Amino acid sequence: MKKIYIRTFGCQMNVRDSEALLGLFLEKGYAQAESEKDADVILLNTCSVRAHAEHRVHSILGSYKKLSAISRQPSAKKNKKAESLPKVRLKAESCKIIGLIGCMAKNVGEEVAKRFAHVDLIVAPSRLHKIPEYVQRIVDQRPKTKDQRPGLRIIDLEDGTREETFYSAEYRQDKSHAQVVISTGCANNCAYCVVPFVRGALRLRAPQDIIAEVKRNVAMGRTRITLLGQNVNDYNFIEAEQSGTKRGYTRNHPTSHVLRPTSFVDLLKMVEAIDGVEEIEFLTPHPKNTTRELFKLMAKSKKIKKYLHLPFQAGSDRILKLMNRGYTKKEYLELVKDYKEITGGTIGTDIIVGFPTETDEDFAHTKEILEKAQFMGAYIFKYSLRPHTQALKLKDDVPAAVKEKRHAILLDLQKKISAIEADKR
Ligand code: 5AD
Ligand code: SF4
Repeated sequence: MKKIYIRTFGCQMNVRDSEALLGLFLEKGYAQAESEKDADVILLNTCSVRAHAEHRVHSILGSYKKLSAISRQPSAKKNKKAESLPKVRLKAESCKIIGLIGCMAKNVGEEVAKRFAHVDLIVAPSRLHKIPEYVQRIVDQRPKTKDQRPGLRIIDLEDGTREETFYSAEYRQDKSHAQVVISTGCANNCAYCVVPFVRGALRLRAPQDIIAEVKRNVAMGRTRITLLGQNVNDYNFIEAEQSGTKRGYTRNHPTSHVLRPTSFVDLLKMVEAIDGVEEIEFLTPHPKNTTRELFKLMAKSKKIKKYLHLPFQAGSDRILKLMNRGYTKKEYLELVKDYKEITGGTIGTDIIVGFPTETDEDFAHTKEILEKAQFMGAYIFKYSLRPHTQALKLKDDVPAAVKEKRHAILLDLQKKISAIEADKR
């Protein structure tokens, strides 16, 4: 029996993607390996949001060289096609298939292909559903002896809609909790963020498919549900005539009524109405289109957890504008005030320090939000320049030492606030 090992970096979306993929392999008869050494197939599901996460993966990939059978000689470089036939060097322990998948594949896959001859498979986030098929093709063409034709490398960096079958496997890590993807990609353009490039355009799963996945999980005892999207508030599903066809209407007999779009709040209500669902969470809302309607639903609901992860990123209106976030400090603080008043719930956030041109005065506004909003917890990041982002046009001019200092100040402040908030509960 072949064994697979998937190592995951980054966010909850990646955790869920790895789980869904592992499930597909298990259904194909693979077993889960304990470690890389034990595996026939090793996949790194990666994150590109910050530079240092990418550096780590580069060094892990380098260390896998000794695990691989393949040494793609310079001739492979000349071959510009996605699938190349490299020369082969067989070793005793050979034959592990090594894949770089997810955001880094899209972001730096072509460089990685040139630098690391032993990487067999490079697949972007939108194409993860193709991986079991690709691995099978690589296995089928794996060289058995030196004299045979060497193996196959597959690079797929297309953007597109994932096939629904990607979410079909029954396997879940957790007995009582299930994460359910509601959308892939991102329609926002925050100036620092590489996600819209690596994960592609926003695409929504149909409410029927999401509800069916929730019901399957509830039937298996997983009654805590987390809905996942880069910005869940962007969910607004409009049933197209074509998909109406798929759902039982024919194109010759279209529905006589126009269907109202399903908003995120509508979707939450649909999930809430499912018998057996006990707790609902969601990640991540964006402040610019988080509504009071959502807060009212949270207040009323016995199932939706009264916790909101609401990244504010920066406090100064000037920096927020440069970041293209679509709200001001005042609007953010009003949103938090209303959220707390309406729901009585808790709140968390993400912050970036040292965005280009950030002065001490700008930073003081960030500190002010931290002091006023009283978050349960905050993820605080030092700005790092990312390819394919609008912020590339700005010079990364805040010195590393200043970023470090601002980061330490916020960490220290938040530690105190978190302790006070935890005491209140
Ligand atoms: N530099 C630093 N932090 C970033 N984030 C996103 N892009 C960058 C970047 N270029 C942070 C944001 C986001 C979180 C997932 O990562 O705070 O909310
Ligand atoms: Fe990045 Fe902004 Fe989309 Fe979040 S909403 S993934 S920060 S572009």
